[in-house]
Amino acid sequence: MAVADPDLPRLLRVMRHAFAAGRGHSPAVAAEAARVLDALPDGQEPVPLTTALSPNDHPSLHQIPEAARRAGPAWTEALTPVARRLPWRFGYAPRPDLPDLQDRMAWAEIVGPAAPIHSDRVGFGLTLIGRDTLYPAHRHPAVELYAVVSGTAAWTLDSVTTQRPPGDFVLHPAQAVHAMRTAQEPLLAIYSWTGDILSPTAYA
Ligand SMILES: [Fe+2]
Repeated sequence: MAVADPDLPRLLRVMRHAFAAGRGHSPAVAAEAARVLDALPDGQEPVPLTTALSPNDHPSLHQIPEAARRAGPAWTEALTPVARRLPWRFGYAPRPDLPDLQDRMAWAEIVGPAAPIHSDRVGFGLTLIGRDTLYPAHRHPAVELYAVVSGTAAWTLDSVTTQRPPGDFVLHPAQAVHAMRTAQEPLLAIYSWTGDILSPTAYA
């Protein structure tokens, strides 16, 4: 039976609004942003959930208040009430050279094949990477679009590294190798997946 969450619609509105700014970027970013927005639920309330949100205490979440504060009042108001009920997880196998990575970063898929809001067409969620953290090189068959919400980090795509401030969009084509490295600020970003959204991500 469908359930609803009182705080999720506001977060989704803020995420959609931020993602819609991608329409003003490069043609490739604009096209992907439009594709994602078209595939998302229409914003009517209540948003039906396939599963109710449940408490989540991933260790990276202590960085949410700072990331939200840096993003501004709309994000603080939208994220604070629901942040600890989102499905945060870390999906990679352990790596001996990065023993605490699973505690330093997580992502929460809000719309997707296994997300609280079901979609077979798109993955849409938040990525949180704590400060001074390397999210090492990885790749996946899905096309990925990020909207940077909070925190300037070094983003690497096909061996080219660029500092990406809030408001920037980063498009990762299918199977392109990419990585991120944060410095003094936690990184909060919206991500989307389209195309082959069922195959997992893997270290490159
Ligand atoms: Fe990715």
